[in-house]
Amino acid sequence: MTAIEELRHSPEQLRARIAAELERARSRSRQLTDIEHDELVRQHSPLMSPLVWDYAHIGSQEELWLVRDVGGRDPVRPDIDEIYDAFRTKRADRPSLPMLSPENARRYVQEVRDKVLDVLESTTLEGRRLVEAGFAFGMIVQHEQQHVETMLATHQLRVGAPLLDAPKPPRGSAPEIPEIYVPGGMFLMGTDLDPWALDNERPAHAVGVEPFWIDTDPVTNAQYAAFIDAGGYDDERWWTPEGWAHRTTAGLKAPQFWDNGHRTRFGHVEPIPPDQPVQHVCWYEADAYARWAGKRLPTEAEWEMAARYDPETGRSLRYPWGDDDPQPEHANLGGTYLGPAPVGAFPQGTSPLGVRGLIGDVWEWTSSDFTPYPGFAMFPYPEYSEVFFGPDYKILRGGSWAADPTAVRATFRNWDYPIRRQIFAGFRCARDV
Ligand code: AVJ
Ligand code: FE
Repeated sequence: MTAIEELRHSPEQLRARIAAELERARSRSRQLTDIEHDELVRQHSPLMSPLVWDYAHIGSQEELWLVRDVGGRDPVRPDIDEIYDAFRTKRADRPSLPMLSPENARRYVQEVRDKVLDVLESTTLEGRRLVEAGFAFGMIVQHEQQHVETMLATHQLRVGAPLLDAPKPPRGSAPEIPEIYVPGGMFLMGTDLDPWALDNERPAHAVGVEPFWIDTDPVTNAQYAAFIDAGGYDDERWWTPEGWAHRTTAGLKAPQFWDNGHRTRFGHVEPIPPDQPVQHVCWYEADAYARWAGKRLPTEAEWEMAARYDPETGRSLRYPWGDDDPQPEHANLGGTYLGPAPVGAFPQGTSPLGVRGLIGDVWEWTSSDFTPYPGFAMFPYPEYSEVFFGPDYKILRGGSWAADPTAVRATFRNWDYPIRRQIFAGFRCARDV
């Protein structure tokens, strides 16, 4: 049983947990927007929104779902719905929107939050699917945390003196063996049980997987540098035709933010740490590396089996370490270190099969397209995932160092275009037996 599932039987404790998660999300988004006016309203990259847009958009989604829908209350600001509708204006064009000023955005999100805390006190968290076990609140907590990660990607693209600082991550350890054998067979993929799991993670369904090998750890900077040094970017053999074309037009030579043995991370220039998972590579680069290494990317089902399958019981766990919510010793999550930790730094997060670093550090590209599971049912709105299904997006798994514990599970599915590099994504390889 999950912690949320247990709290269901104690409405007061469930409410307290929701209120705490709402506040934890807000403390993160507040911190990333506690910067000068110009830094907030400027567009740091055409790939991203101005930070103040994300902040007010967080409030807008919260108003839509929790004030209006769950609470049945009057709209707070119906006049700004369109400005913060992500489908109406693409990121590149958002600077021209008549956005709320930073001061008004702060006032607005606070006004919404005050109403939401009131709704939380007066709503029965059962009887209606949207609020069952606090789902709508959990969805909005995850939404804010997802935008926190997006805002961190914006901060990473920002040029100028550093605004963010973090402690050094813990030490790592070399793997005992570089690859793990997974005997394959049937396992249960996806979930019906996790109360805050989103629609695309459902339903749980049996999947058959052939035996395969998977890397014990994500591919490190040192391993990726060997691919570069071997001329991997200049050898068409390793690339798909689309990947080669993209490498050529985009001028790819190394991961984004690398320069001459150094990388820039939130404005800090530092030597590239050899034993950390590589990040800021696109799917095409990951795919080319894997081919150069004589391997391939894992499918989404292989990744999930490696992460969740317990060969002793035949059960699929909620996380590699079991069903408990992530604790600091399990995984590098929540933005604590503003970057990946060396591989092997979180031995308590190892999966039953012996695979390490599956949750946190870097999102891991898989070979799979974003498609619905058999029996998928959109809930509660098509724009979360349904409208993105299809061959244009590749699946990423496991969450990055920036992802919050509430916004990642071993069933959680993320997706992006195969050219994207500003996200905190890396990969591990797999191969056939
Ligand atoms: C699930 C990360 C792909 O950021 O586009 C945020 C999450 N959806 N607001 C995204 C999301 C609506 C989404 N990803
Ligand atoms: Fe959003």
